[in-house]
Amino acid sequence: MEWLPTSASTFAPGVDFILWLVTIISVLSCIVVGAMLVYLVVKYRRRSDNDSTPAITHDSFLETLWTVIPTILCVVIFIYGYVYYDEYTTTPKNAIEINVTGKQWIWSFDYANGKKTLNDLYVPVNQPIRLVMQSTDVLHSFFVPAFRVKQDLMGNRYTYINFTATKEGVYDLYCTEYCGTAHSDMLGKVHVLSEAKFAAWEDGSADKAKKASAANIPPAELGKQLYSSKGCVACHSIDGADGVGPTWKGLFAKNRVFTDGTSANADENYIKESILYPGEKMVEGYGPVMPSYKGLLDDAEITAIIEYIKTLK
Ligand code: CUA
Repeated sequence: MEWLPTSASTFAPGVDFILWLVTIISVLSCIVVGAMLVYLVVKYRRRSDNDSTPAITHDSFLETLWTVIPTILCVVIFIYGYVYYDEYTTTPKNAIEINVTGKQWIWSFDYANGKKTLNDLYVPVNQPIRLVMQSTDVLHSFFVPAFRVKQDLMGNRYTYINFTATKEGVYDLYCTEYCGTAHSDMLGKVHVLSEAKFAAWEDGSADKAKKASAANIPPAELGKQLYSSKGCVACHSIDGADGVGPTWKGLFAKNRVFTDGTSANADENYIKESILYPGEKMVEGYGPVMPSYKGLLDDAEITAIIEYIKTLK
């Protein structure tokens, strides 16, 4: 069993060191105090009825000792904490900036070259990254255990995270601030790529390779994968349960009544429009909370999602 998550950023060793330092000091103190307590209770127990306790008012040596030792320990912990906190909050000069938006209940990432991703953050290894984060609604919190970084996102101001990933791989991203119904589905992945792979991802050639392999998957199957990976799962159930958005079960070809009193059949065009321009037709009983997926899903992916919805009868 591993005690701690994988350590994959430059901060991880420092954070783990402080954690171990505090844990070891606490455990040792607990053992010493507990053992002394038992020993002294036994040693100075009342042995007979006329056993009397000597009057002791204080002991300068002992009092100095139990003031000085804990003070030194606290100062040591503070210094380590301060040094690592300072490193954590200082942005390296050559950091790459990525904009992060938290929204009930998806993460969206905007890169300097105009690329956009949902729930999947792509970063190069051994390169300082600065995340400039904001929320469009309530508080969210960006937490990647493997990097030992966590920071709240707020509605009316930017907050920041700096980190340098040290190991290629895919790491879990959590929202760690309770933010409503689908808080527990507000999950993502951080993909740490080698410099070459990141460059390929940036110029789109990695996308093409991925699309080519996606072309071999039946559309409904691909749609099912997109349902989780693009965050649809947070608001739309597939078992008929009502969520923030309408369930996908039995949705296809169903008659929809909108807030303006009009209605339409949920055919392919209706679903595509709802994905790209969710505000156009609001189904009665639901709020205008869905973000537009324009630029985030291509036509083949939208078709795959429609095919998946068709299978949910
Ligand atoms: Cu966003 Cu919890």
